[in-house]
Amino acid sequence: MLWNKKIVIGITGSIAAYKAACLCRALIKKGAEVQVVITPAGKEFITPVTLSALTQKPVVSEFFTANDGTWHSHVDLGLWADAMLIAPATAASIGKMANGIADNILITTYLSMKAPVFIAPAMDLDMYAHPSTQQNLNKLQSFGNYIIEPATGFLASALEGKGRMEEPDKIVEILENYFAHSTDLARKKILITAGPTYEKIDPVRYIGNYSSGKMGFALAEAFATRGAEVVLIAGPVKMETIHPNIRRIDVESAKEMYQSAIEEFANVDTAILCAAVADYRPKNYSENKLKREDKGDFSLELTANPDIAATLGKLKKANQLLVGFALETDNEQTNALAKLQKKNLNFIVLNSLKDEGAGFQGDTNKISIIDAQGKTTAFEMKSKKAVAEDIVDFLRNRLS
Ligand code: CTP
Repeated sequence: MLWNKKIVIGITGSIAAYKAACLCRALIKKGAEVQVVITPAGKEFITPVTLSALTQKPVVSEFFTANDGTWHSHVDLGLWADAMLIAPATAASIGKMANGIADNILITTYLSMKAPVFIAPAMDLDMYAHPSTQQNLNKLQSFGNYIIEPATGFLASALEGKGRMEEPDKIVEILENYFAHSTDLARKKILITAGPTYEKIDPVRYIGNYSSGKMGFALAEAFATRGAEVVLIAGPVKMETIHPNIRRIDVESAKEMYQSAIEEFANVDTAILCAAVADYRPKNYSENKLKREDKGDFSLELTANPDIAATLGKLKKANQLLVGFALETDNEQTNALAKLQKKNLNFIVLNSLKDEGAGFQGDTNKISIIDAQGKTTAFEMKSKKAVAEDIVDFLRNRLS
């Protein structure tokens, strides 16, 4: 998997820098081409001579060579690499990367990087646990970077806890896995609907629901990371998308989501309908804010919204897959299978509100996937990100 892969290894000033030598060696043994970029503090922990001997390439540590003025282009490195791995990554460098403080060539290389970036933090347990470090790591993750969580164990400070850089063998395995999966869905086109819809009552009120969009966005990210081209039709959510393979269409109401889904469906291999679409909308939208009238109860007349899943089910061609979601509170299996049949879906992903940790707002989910014959594949409770991976893995063979 690493054969001929071009990898930039960024080394920062941590005692774990000595492990970077093993990392370079392990990657080279697997056939990768490695270019080291090191910070001034990194050089205090491991010498460029060791690293250039191992990688057979001069180590990049300054913007230019002082004696002859040769310019080292971080932009070229950003275009050259298939992946960048920052190992060890100190709290200081993590902070600089998260905030764009480009005061050394490692940070400018990171900011110019076109390839995926993997970050392996290494620091004392309290530094790692500090909200500032955690916030910076979350920020980096939200930019689409991969964080290789540190291990728990004996630290250079003589304390014990979470902060040890992950072992080189494990890091190599993570990169191998990434490359194994990164392109297996290349050229596949996936449509995903996500989030709630808002149905306007008047200029200040709407009918909505608690859907956060997290599951749909995790799916979009998982497909995009595996090389698929994703069209994400998102209802009103506070979520960001960064991955270049994701084209996002923001909509508000069920009707808008329906329009976009119909337009996009003909060009995709699979549609996954994660959105919690409002079944009804107010029959009449009031241009002016509705006033409270002291007449007791108030009734709002509703009219049915179009069913996106059922419409796509009718338009579906033999080479297309249609996957729905069902969030149920009772008779889960029966209700989900009935929905699959009614809407002509190939699969339905069921989550039950009875399962703690499943459903709308949280970061976890527990699903089962049911096919048209009623065959059910159940999964453990996992983070929505891991659930998305399971769904992608499940659909991958059916897609090809
Ligand atoms: N769905 C859709 N368009 C709608 C309603 C639902 O595309 N107007 C999709 C959802 O995205 C989901 C599947 O249909 O993939 C099932 O959604 P759900 O709301 O559970 O189905 P309903 O048919 O609305 O059933 P219920 O009466 O339980 O609300």
